[in-house]
Amino acid sequence: ADGDQVPALVIGSGYGGSVAALRLAQAGVDVLVAEMGMSWTQPGSDGDIFCSVLKPDGRSYWLREKTDQPVGYFLGGSYNKDIDRYTGVLDSEKFSGIRVYQGRGVGGGSLVNGGMAVTPKQENFAAILPSVDAGEMYATYYPRANSALGVNTIDQAWFESAECYKFARVGRKHAERSGFGWTFVPNVYDFEYMKKEQANTVRRSALAGEVIYGNNAGKRSLDKTYLAAATGTGKVTIAAQHLVTAVTPSGGGYEVTIAQIDTKGNTTATKKVVAQRVFFAAGSVGTSKLLVAMKAQGHLRDLSDAVGQKWGNNGNVMVGRANHMWDGTGILQSSMPCLGIDNWADAGGPAFAEVAPFPAGLETYVSLYLAITKNPNRARFTFDSGTGKVDLNWQTSWNQSSIDAAKRIFDKINKKEGTIYRTDLFGVYKTWGDDFTYHPLGGCVLNEATDNYGRLHGYQGLYVIDGSLIPGNTSVNPFVTITALAERNIERIIAEDL
Ligand code: FDA
Repeated sequence: ADGDQVPALVIGSGYGGSVAALRLAQAGVDVLVAEMGMSWTQPGSDGDIFCSVLKPDGRSYWLREKTDQPVGYFLGGSYNKDIDRYTGVLDSEKFSGIRVYQGRGVGGGSLVNGGMAVTPKQENFAAILPSVDAGEMYATYYPRANSALGVNTIDQAWFESAECYKFARVGRKHAERSGFGWTFVPNVYDFEYMKKEQANTVRRSALAGEVIYGNNAGKRSLDKTYLAAATGTGKVTIAAQHLVTAVTPSGGGYEVTIAQIDTKGNTTATKKVVAQRVFFAAGSVGTSKLLVAMKAQGHLRDLSDAVGQKWGNNGNVMVGRANHMWDGTGILQSSMPCLGIDNWADAGGPAFAEVAPFPAGLETYVSLYLAITKNPNRARFTFDSGTGKVDLNWQTSWNQSSIDAAKRIFDKINKKEGTIYRTDLFGVYKTWGDDFTYHPLGGCVLNEATDNYGRLHGYQGLYVIDGSLIPGNTSVNPFVTITALAERNIERIIAEDL
């Protein structure tokens, strides 16, 4: 409530925020979590909490009148649909050169993501964050994160025959025939539950095409894991539909301004809370935007100039291939990917490409891929005093190196299979999905904008604990790394600062 005083305030309830909330509470600290998105616990009029990918309604997108599907086109036209403006679960945030998809709600990105829970190879992690003791990460914090997130692996015998993974087996076959390595990818979706979906004995979720607008069953999103444990301590309060708009020093702590919003996005109340410590966990984009604005507006003028720098898209690029009639990818596809093509060791263009589902409800003969590449470009956030908004200077053309890296895999596969790229999935005659990302990273890099544990330079009691700490790339899907790094940092902060 307005005027409250709290020992710790966490901004955002994604991976970083959930780790902070749980570990602080276990250390005896009362925590308030302010989350701009909704608490996704109440079913809509159809009895479901979330809507499906094939039938989107207002619940799908954050304050939009039309859907903005990542794969937004098919056979010559856009298949985006009109929807009610509502505080839906997936935000497609548009900057001048890129759209950034993010989860909105209690649980952050865990509500909308593909659940792929990948621990990078140790040497790749060590190259990305050289100031972090990689040995310690792999001995202690990655295992801790994997266990608390509920990561599980697919039953490989079941995989070989499951109808819903035909698309993945076709993707694997094509990779193998062109000499590429591949690997199974762990997930937080309960594979035992998925088996029952395939057998038709439970309500289908992954097999009903549910993913980017939320899963109604099967998925161990953060509200089922870290956040459930955090609220279970009795020391954590989560305020949903509460958007943090300012943080300024006040006495020995910080005054945090919070707008309470309704489901149309209108402010219904403005509250001020004084917190001794503030943990920025609003995601790479949310944290960077907030800190860059606070510095530019003079509220936190002593923040390092490294704040807002080194943002990257994890080299994301998507592409589809058109298979022959004998290589159908299946009508029934699990929305949870479970297999990746590993070409990271190719010095000419490292890439890790997940074999992605395309659950259209009909046979499309499409093999779809999301490639993570080693894109060297980095963007920065800047505050525009005219509009009062923060922009990001990423250019779409900067993704050419990602396309080039992905082509090293898929040109070869196409040649071998005698197939071609689909040009109708990301626009009309547009092969590459190069203008959006699912993996925003950086903007407040560890050991640069903060110390080696996420303490912001210039302000005692301010911390960053989310994806903005990682400088633009993780070599694989990022959430396990974000979680493990948060576990490492919060342990040190609790031991030394409290
Ligand atoms: P995260 O974005 O999770 O949480 C930030 C939270 O802060 C959000 O809930 C947001 O609403 C809130 N917030 C922002 N600003 C605020 C403010 N001013 N006030 C209050 N609250 C605020 N990764 C992976 O490893 N495997 C995968 O399979 C996928 N798949 C995938 C699919 C899709 C569609 C998306 C969009 C993303 C993925 N990802 C993924 C990426 C993954 O979800 C992402 O890296 C993490 O969620 C980032 O975790 P953070 O803790 O940094 O922020």
